Amino acid sequence: MTAAVAATAKTPARVRLRPTMQSDLDYVLSLEQDPANLPFITPWERTQHEAAIRFPDFRHFIIEAGAGLDAAGFVILIGCRSPNQSLELKRMVVQEKGLGRGRAALRVVKKIVFDDLGAHRFWLDVKERNARAQGLYQGEGFALEGRLRDAVRVADGRDSLIVMSMLAPEFAARRAQGLEMFA
Ligand SMILES: CC(C)(COP(=O)(O)OP(=O)(O)OC[C@H]1O[C@@H](n2cnc3c(N)ncnc32)[C@H](O)[C@@H]1OP(=O)(O)O)[C@@H](O)C(=O)NCCC(=O)NCCS
Repeated sequence: MTAAVAATAKTPARVRLRPTMQSDLDYVLSLEQDPANLPFITPWERTQHEAAIRFPDFRHFIIEAGAGLDAAGFVILIGCRSPNQSLELKRMVVQEKGLGRGRAALRVVKKIVFDDLGAHRFWLDVKERNARAQGLYQGEGFALEGRLRDAVRVADGRDSLIVMSMLAPEFAARRAQGLEMFA
């Protein structure tokens, strides 16, 4: 899929998504290893990313932003062939934080997930200590489903995972309210 959708967010960020290529993986791996991101994700081996690029059940995207549409982050979706139409936002990492790019990218991702991939349910889990990501997901309409207590090990012990989701009718309602706007 060559999803090249421009989005405007609450803040004036504009982003575009394109499929990740093999040649992008050094960039992806470096973002995962960045100390700014490591506390919030579980980094993958290169082979896992290579598989995610190839397997039809996965979508792996590079976020592009800025005047030169440089690589600005990445997104991984899982469950794209799910018979249950239940897709997972496996990972989203934005390089320069706080510029509205995460929100803009998530809008594009939701459009792909519900419009192109036919999802009924779009869900994710996020570490409890990741207040920034939770703020983004909540602000973008994801409902709180629950808390998986002590589900992950972290540098200083354990953390819980917060499960959040959005259903297709909720996405449609947000769109009708003008909350899923694109440029
Ligand atoms: C989480 C992440 C993708 C968000 O992208 P971003 O570009 O930094 O976020 P945005 O600038 O679009 O901000 C979106 C919203 O997040 C929330 N937010 C941002 N910073 C926050 C903070 N420090 N505390 C709480 N909420 C915060 C706000 O609701 C904000 O919206 P607002 O500025 O309109 O109020 C990005 O910060 C990132 O890559 N973090 C490290 C990896 C990670 O945590 N990935 C998610 C794993 S589930």
